[in-house]
Amino acid sequence: MDGNGRWAAARGLTRDCGHREGAKAVERTVDAALEQGIGTLTLFAFSGDNWQRPATEVGTLLQVFENYLLNARHECARRAIRVSVIGRRHRLSLGLRAAAQAIELVTAQGTRMHLRIAIDYSGRDAILEAARSFAQSGAPARELTRRAFSRLISEHAGNESAPVPDVDLLIRTGGEQRLSDCLLWEIAYAEIVFTGCMWPDFDAADLESALREYHGRERRYGRIVSAAVANSEMVSPDHCETR
Ligand code: IPE
Ligand code: MG
Repeated sequence: MDGNGRWAAARGLTRDCGHREGAKAVERTVDAALEQGIGTLTLFAFSGDNWQRPATEVGTLLQVFENYLLNARHECARRAIRVSVIGRRHRLSLGLRAAAQAIELVTAQGTRMHLRIAIDYSGRDAILEAARSFAQSGAPARELTRRAFSRLISEHAGNESAPVPDVDLLIRTGGEQRLSDCLLWEIAYAEIVFTGCMWPDFDAADLESALREYHGRERRYGRIVSAAVANSEMVSPDHCETR
C-alpha cells in the first residue's frame, strides 16, 4: 500500500494525514474484497525497513494500525472475517500487540475471508526464520519439501498451523515497480498489477480493474498454452532437461 505521503503532499497536507486517509482505503478494500469473494487478503502495512522513517511518522503509522485493529474487531467478527497480524511483534508497542491479539482472538472463527495485516514484516526475514526453525528442529534435510517450508513460513509469520495459500494477485499502488520485500516465498507465481493510484485513493473500482486484468492473463506456470499442446510434436525424453 504505497502513496500515502504523495497523496497528502499533492493536497498540501501532512504525511500523517495521508496515513490516516490510507486507513479509510483499507476499510474500502476489505469491503470490496469481501464483495468479490476473495479468500485471503494480505495488506502490507509496514515493512521491517519502514522503521528507518522519522520516529514521529513511525509513531503515527503504528497508532493508525492500533486504532484500526481496535475499531474493526467486532465488525470483522460479525462479518466472519478472520484477521491475523503477520510479522515480528517484539518491536511493537504493548498497545499494538494487545490490539493485534484482541482482533485475532475475537475473529478466530471467521470463515468468509482471511485478512492478514503485515506489520514489521520482511519477506526475506520470514524465509530466514523458517529456515532457522527447520535447522533447529534437527529433522533430516529431505523432509524440507516446498509444502513443509510453506507451512513453516505461515507458522512463523502469523502462527498458522496450515500453509497459507500462495499469492495469486499482487497489487502495488503508488506507481513503484518493485516488490520491496513483500511475501517473497509466496509470490513465486503471483500475477502482478502495478498501478499509479495512490493508496488513499484506492477503491472498489481499482480492485475490480486489477481483478479484471488478472482474469485476462493466462497463468501457465512454466507450461505452454493449452492449444499449443495438441499441436506440438512429442519431445523424446532424451532431449528433456531435468531440473
Ligand atoms: C505507504 O505510503 C505507507 C507505508 C509505507 C507505511 P508511503 O508513506 O510510502 O507514501 P509515499 O511513497 O511517500 O507517497
Ligand atoms: Mg512509499
